Amino acid sequence: MANERTLILVKPDGVARGLVGEVVARIERKGFTLDAMELMTLTREQAEEHYGEHRDKPFFGELVSFITSGPLVALAVAGEGAIGGMRTLMGATNPLEATPGSIRGDFATVIGENIAHGSDSPESAVRELAIFFPGRF
Ligand code: RTP
Ligand code: MG
Repeated sequence: MANERTLILVKPDGVARGLVGEVVARIERKGFTLDAMELMTLTREQAEEHYGEHRDKPFFGELVSFITSGPLVALAVAGEGAIGGMRTLMGATNPLEATPGSIRGDFATVIGENIAHGSDSPESAVRELAIFFPGRF
């Protein structure tokens, strides 16, 4: 497994519920490194680019509205196997199916408000990191 860097978001629901520290603590406790961290509110254009792969899905409009609805915290997280490792730490997309002990398993019930995002492949990580931290990595 290679050293990797991934884009993690504490989504607007996580920020509104005061879970930024909780999520960051879990990332640090796991042993991953924080390479960048920033509170920001996405423009519609940034959100549509970030979720471009879902453009044709029925939930795309809701997804963009939700992710632009308030501030989120973007993180660049690095470490051995960080992309898959962070997906495991977050748990399944549907929080009702996410294992207890995972971020989504512990803190969410609704698929559209599932606290965190993590890149799903090395290609996605490079693409997404460039949207949130242009010119940084
Ligand atoms: P994410 O991109 O946020 O890390 O989540 P993911 O890879 O686990 O799931 P993905 O398939 O990429 O879906 C992106 C986000 O869209 C919302 N979603 N809603 N209503 C629905 O059926 C539905 N399906 C997905 C979720 O918030 C998911 O995180
Ligand atoms: Mg995804």
